[in-house]
Amino acid sequence: MALPRVFVSRTIDGEALAGLRARAEVQVFGQPRPPTPGELTDGVREADGLLCMLTDRVDRALLDQAPRLRAVSTLSVGLDHVDLAACTARGIAVGHTPGVLTEATADLAFALLLGAARHVAPGDAFVRSGRWKTWDPGLLLGRDLSGATLGIAGLGAIGQAVVRRARGFSMRVLYANRTARPEVEAEFGARRVDKDTLLAESDFLSLHLALTPETRHYLGERELARMKPRAVLVNTSRGAVVDSAALARALAAGRPAAAALDVFDPEPPSADDPLLALPNVLLAPHLGSATVETRGRMAALAVLNLLLSLEGRRPKHCANPELF
Ligand code: GLV
Repeated sequence: MALPRVFVSRTIDGEALAGLRARAEVQVFGQPRPPTPGELTDGVREADGLLCMLTDRVDRALLDQAPRLRAVSTLSVGLDHVDLAACTARGIAVGHTPGVLTEATADLAFALLLGAARHVAPGDAFVRSGRWKTWDPGLLLGRDLSGATLGIAGLGAIGQAVVRRARGFSMRVLYANRTARPEVEAEFGARRVDKDTLLAESDFLSLHLALTPETRHYLGERELARMKPRAVLVNTSRGAVVDSAALARALAAGRPAAAALDVFDPEPPSADDPLLALPNVLLAPHLGSATVETRGRMAALAVLNLLLSLEGRRPKHCANPELF
């Protein structure tokens, strides 16, 4: 029997790729950049399966050019780049990679939180520049985590992993989530509050929301104005969960005091994005899941999801389980 044809939109972990090659005829887009929409279309024209990244737009226009496609597997937990309804309508199973990246992403959220709280990047730049002349009791004073209030918007797996870390730093934790999580409240003393209370009481606010039409611009001008002047915003979810222009204006005015951002809208931000010029912003290039171990697990899971779908079986993590 002929092997299924699969298009892989970037080079992924070698072991996972070898596993895929054993079971499918694989074409890898091997450039150190995402395929253009035209290149992606060419890749899927004859393909039975697509292993894509969060940088690939899987929309109706693409699916219309992919008559054989029956499996889409994304190397991400986020699905905002995939038109799920269009895939489901065509009977295309969609797999993604939750779970395996939870701890790595929570680690990065905490790294950014600490980095912003303690001016790690400005400190590094200061020493390198030769401007450091002596120990100074007022130099680059940050904020204590201990005793501070951490607000979590979106208490899914990653939000909960951040709560566990916060507990280790003796922080008070509030969260806003569609559903109550009594087990997290009982185990970590987290308290569920409404969004306005979360904004008003958080010294640190960390966003862990999937990007959907409902969460787009979850933080806009009104919400940012409700934050404490000394608050630090951390975003490792999706850039568009925050109104970037409103955030740049708010940070320029000093309220909130700082932001630490791993995600942007658009991504990457343009060179003249005002966020890049602000001294009170710590920047990272969408590194949430970027560890050797985690990316290996993500690739293995993405391959497994793809192979299961190509066999007509439900992917291990399926975004449209109603197909099965
Ligand atoms: C990363 O942002 C992901 O969705 O996996």
